[in-house]
Amino acid sequence: ACVLPPPFQALELVSKPKPYYEVGEEITYKCKAGYDQLLGFLTIATCEPNHTWVPISDDACIRRKCTYLGGPKNGRVEYPNSSHVWGAQVHFICSDGFYLIGKPIVHCVLKGEYPEWDGKIPQCEKILCSPPPKIKDGKYTFSDIEVFEYMEAVTYSCDKIPGGEELSLVGQSELYCAGNGVWSSSPPECKVVRCPFPEVENGKQLSGFGKKFSYKATVVFECIQGFYMNGSNTVVCSSASTWDPPLPTCLKVVPPSSTKPPTLSYSASTSPSTISPISTVSGPKPTHPKKPSVQNYPGYPNPTEGLFDDEFAKWIIVLIVLISLVGVAIIFLWLYRYFQRRKKGKADIRAQYNTYQKRSTTPAEQR
Ligand SMILES: *[C@@H]1O[C@H](CO)[C@@H](O)[C@H](O)[C@H]1NC(C)=O
Ligand SMILES: *[C@@H]1O[C@H](CO)[C@@H](O)[C@H](O)[C@H]1NC(C)=O
Ligand SMILES: *[C@@H]1O[C@H](CO)[C@@H](O)[C@H](O)[C@H]1NC(C)=O
Repeated sequence: ACVLPPPFQALELVSKPKPYYEVGEEITYKCKAGYDQLLGFLTIATCEPNHTWVPISDDACIRRKCTYLGGPKNGRVEYPNSSHVWGAQVHFICSDGFYLIGKPIVHCVLKGEYPEWDGKIPQCEKILCSPPPKIKDGKYTFSDIEVFEYMEAVTYSCDKIPGGEELSLVGQSELYCAGNGVWSSSPPECKVVRCPFPEVENGKQLSGFGKKFSYKATVVFECIQGFYMNGSNTVVCSSASTWDPPLPTCLKVVPPSSTKPPTLSYSASTSPSTISPISTVSGPKPTHPKKPSVQNYPGYPNPTEGLFDDEFAKWIIVLIVLISLVGVAIIFLWLYRYFQRRKKGKADIRAQYNTYQKRSTTPAEQR
């Protein structure tokens, strides 16, 4: 009449299972090890005439809990499962400036009937650093302090050698105590950094002039007319006394094979507004100083395209001049008519005034 229900997570059969149960027969469950039975929930099921069991569920038994663990001194505890039943975990976190000794994560595990933690509350110890390393030809601030606390910082500087070469500080100048016995980075180095004079054939320096080029000196170049730049226009003196990136080269602009003479420049014959860098400049292309790198020379415009643009520009100018001339003519015409009208108007007023005077004197004479 009834078959055995599927197995439960928290419940187990008390008696041996049978393949079939008759109507009215009962099966008895109990809570598995590590679970406690809740009052008011059934653990006995009965085989009903409609071949089902009066429902029982896992809700009848709940997991046993581990003891509540508090946070360590100078730290706190977190229960990510929002409970401390077995299977749950607990996380320990130390406050800023402290480091953890022990296990940061502890689990509540079942040992036989009762659960327990697989670890204990760790300790949070104060983060301290011993003094940072000393460096050759340099020093750091607070060098008399024996123990540094968390986030306390020192600043390195290079010695001035009288009469000697100037030393550059390569690396981080400021170090701070970042962890227990751990400084934020390795100390800097004091060394002579001297880059070779930055010479670029067919190029000229735009900025960064000087006699000596020490660490982080920056030089900007430009190629002379007729040459274009391959590489970066800005180089920086690296700690290895080399230019980084390497110095650029200025390469000769190769004239295109076209029917137009290569020396012909349209820039002088056209108005500035019509010059577009690609279509009208046919001579050697100057490299712009701010351009980072021109690895691929843009090449030459189609000569017929350039001619078309110039022809077009000329017609535009002719048109503008014509329109301007017509405009000036209209203004002159208008001004002429305006003054004519004003002259006539003054004459009219004078005439009216005269008649008024006449009228005002005539009645007086009559009186
Ligand atoms: C079977 O019978 C029981 C009690 O008579 C009832 O509670 C249950 O809902 C019934 N199940 C089905 C599937 O009809
Ligand atoms: C507790 O949480 C962890 C991580 O969030 C998860 O892996 C684990 O299964 C959870 N345990 C229980 C009993 O919910
Ligand atoms: C530009 O420089 C790079 C690297 O220095 C080089 O490989 C390349 O051939 C140069 N290009 C030309 C057109 O010379």
